[in-house]
Amino acid sequence: MQLYLFIFFLLLLLCFSVSISNVSSLSSDGVALLSLSKRWTSVPASISSSWNASGSTPCEWVGIECDNDHNVVSLKLTGYGISGQLGPEISRFRYLKTLDLSVNKFSGKIPTELANCSLLENLDLYENGFSGEIPESLFAIPALAYVHLYSNRLNGSIPGNVGNLSELVHLYLYENQFSGVTPSSIGNCSKLEDLYLAENQLIGELPKSLNKLENLVYLDVAINSLEGSIPLGSEGTIPSSFGQLKYLSILYLPLNHLSGKIPPELGKCESLKELLLYTNQLVGEIPRELGMLTQLEDLKLFENRLTGEIPVGIWKIQSLQHILVYNNSLTGELPVVMTELKQLKNISLFNNLFFGVIPQTLGINSSLWLLDFTNNKFTGKIPSSLCRGKQVMEVESGFQSISRYHTF
Ligand SMILES: *[C@@H]1O[C@H](CO)[C@@H](O)[C@H](O)[C@H]1NC(C)=O
Ligand SMILES: *[C@@H]1O[C@H](CO)[C@@H](O)[C@H](O)[C@H]1NC(C)=O
Ligand SMILES: *[C@@H]1O[C@H](CO)[C@@H](O)[C@H](O)[C@H]1NC(C)=O
Ligand SMILES: *[C@@H]1O[C@H](CO)[C@@H](O)[C@H](O)[C@H]1NC(C)=O
Ligand SMILES: *[C@@H]1O[C@H](CO)[C@@H](O)[C@H](O)[C@H]1NC(C)=O
Ligand SMILES: *[C@@H]1O[C@H](CO)[C@@H](O)[C@H](O)[C@H]1NC(C)=O
Ligand SMILES: *[C@@H]1O[C@H](CO)[C@@H](O)[C@H](O)[C@H]1NC(C)=O
Ligand SMILES: *[C@@H]1O[C@H](CO)[C@@H](O)[C@H](O)[C@H]1NC(C)=O
Repeated sequence: MQLYLFIFFLLLLLCFSVSISNVSSLSSDGVALLSLSKRWTSVPASISSSWNASGSTPCEWVGIECDNDHNVVSLKLTGYGISGQLGPEISRFRYLKTLDLSVNKFSGKIPTELANCSLLENLDLYENGFSGEIPESLFAIPALAYVHLYSNRLNGSIPGNVGNLSELVHLYLYENQFSGVTPSSIGNCSKLEDLYLAENQLIGELPKSLNKLENLVYLDVAINSLEGSIPLGSEGTIPSSFGQLKYLSILYLPLNHLSGKIPPELGKCESLKELLLYTNQLVGEIPRELGMLTQLEDLKLFENRLTGEIPVGIWKIQSLQHILVYNNSLTGELPVVMTELKQLKNISLFNNLFFGVIPQTLGINSSLWLLDFTNNKFTGKIPSSLCRGKQVMEVESGFQSISRYHTF
């Protein structure tokens, strides 16, 4: 009898422990995710109901992907309106390759413990309220390739060890509050294609090492407080390394305090489509080498202190759409060859020293949108070719300059 009782209790104990182990059988990654989410508020029901402890792994949970061994390799929760903090528990995901918490309301710092996710390749924390500095340890993760941290409130300097990221392809840090100078080590990120640092408080010169980034496609450092000259081959200081930016398509450096001349070496960036250097303190002439840019669409050099003529080669670039050079001290006559540009849409020469006759066939073969020739020294008549279509024209005090013109 006692034996039966003993066996009965033994069985009961067994059942009990089985049921306990059922409850606590969620993998350590699952447990870590639950503790990570304890720091979050306004988590939508779609996540909170899916993230429950009833299974053995979190691999079916919303936003989670696992490898074959049920390790979490991807955590993607974009645009859920989640607020709260990214806690140090993130370090427990040793196999994590993708962390995407973009377009939420996260605040607080990026935890230094994130650096323990040593396989991390994609870091998407953009459009949140993260603040404080980028932990230097983050840029010691060797696999990091796509770093999208734009539109946050991050500050401090861009960590100088960024040059250690040999796999880096995208570095998107725009719309933050970064200060200090751009680290020259960045020239060592040899796979870098897109570098977006716009709308920060960066100062000083751009490093000459940028010339080493031979895969660079986009370089955007607009709206900062950059000083000194444009480093791309400037003043022949690095003749050997320059001319390698053959994929550079977009160069945006407007709204800074850049001085010096426009480097003629830019003419070797054969893929350049958009060259935006407006609102700086650039001096000297527009280099005739820019006429070699056969893919150029957008040339915006307004609000500088440029002198001399627009090189005739620029008026022969068939892809040219917008040429805005107002508020400089440019001079010269407009060549007839400009009337052959079929893509041309906007020309603003306002407030310069151009003279001579406006070519009479201007606009015959293109759909011009904006023409602003005011405050120059043009003579002669408004081209009759412009007097067609639906257009708005202002003729200033009997003088033949055209201030606004719309044909579409
Ligand atoms: C727990 O989550 C799983 C999938 O993540 C879901 O199928 C199940 O309905 C959830 N259970 C509860 C009680 O919400
Ligand atoms: C991160 O990794 C380091 C060693 O690489 C270890 O000393 C530290 O304890 C880890 N931190 C966490 C929070 O896991
Ligand atoms: C950068 O890389 C070098 C060599 O690869 C290494 O010695 C150094 O510790 C790294 N620095 C940082 C801050 O990760
Ligand atoms: C960065 O911002 C934090 C507040 O989020 C502030 O305490 C800190 O002083 C700032 N650091 C720098 C270098 O501006
Ligand atoms: C770039 O890498 C080279 C060689 O790997 C190294 O000697 C140099 O110190 C690095 N430059 C910077 C600025 O980190
Ligand atoms: C261009 O120059 C004119 C005249 O000097 C000045 O009034 C105007 O503010 C300048 N335009 C801009 C956008 O700065
Ligand atoms: C306009 O285009 C026509 C047909 O392509 C061409 O014959 C003519 O020379 C062009 N005119 C100008 C001013 O480019
Ligand atoms: C230039 O032209 C386009 C039409 O192609 C127009 O949408 C744009 O606003 C114009 N203005 C400037 C300043 O480029």
